[in-house]
Amino acid sequence: MALERTLSIIKPDAVAKNVIGQIYTRFENAGLKIVAAKMTHLTQAEAEGFYAVHKERPFFNDLVKFMISGPVMIQALEGENAVLKNRELMGATNPKDAAPGTIRADFAESIDANAVHGSDSLENAAIEIKYFFG
Ligand code: TYD
Repeated sequence: MALERTLSIIKPDAVAKNVIGQIYTRFENAGLKIVAAKMTHLTQAEAEGFYAVHKERPFFNDLVKFMISGPVMIQALEGENAVLKNRELMGATNPKDAAPGTIRADFAESIDANAVHGSDSLENAAIEIKYFFG
């Protein structure tokens, strides 16, 4: 088992729903420690830079618009297999496909307002943590 760090974002829809605490409890109950956190309202440049890998995708402009529509809560999570563990807690990208009991199944409305982001690999986790926490 490897001690890892991953980047998590509670997106504007979930912050607006007032479920930051409920999502943090899921991280803690799964053995993930919040080792850095900040609430911020992303600028367009920050959101575009973060999702640059998707810039040719048809949903890119709407995704950026959504991510800057309200405050987000950004955290680095640390624990055994943190990258995969966080992805399991999140559930599938489309909440309609997300397993019961996952964050997206319980709190997300649609594929474009899907409550949380989580790094998809250890390599991207390091890049994303650096992007927001230096
Ligand atoms: P992606 O990296 O594929 O998913 P995940 O967040 O599960 O790693 O996509 C990034 C975000 O882009 C996703 O959380 C929501 C948005 N998105 C859409 O709005 N429409 C889509 O068809 C896809 C694939 C993603």
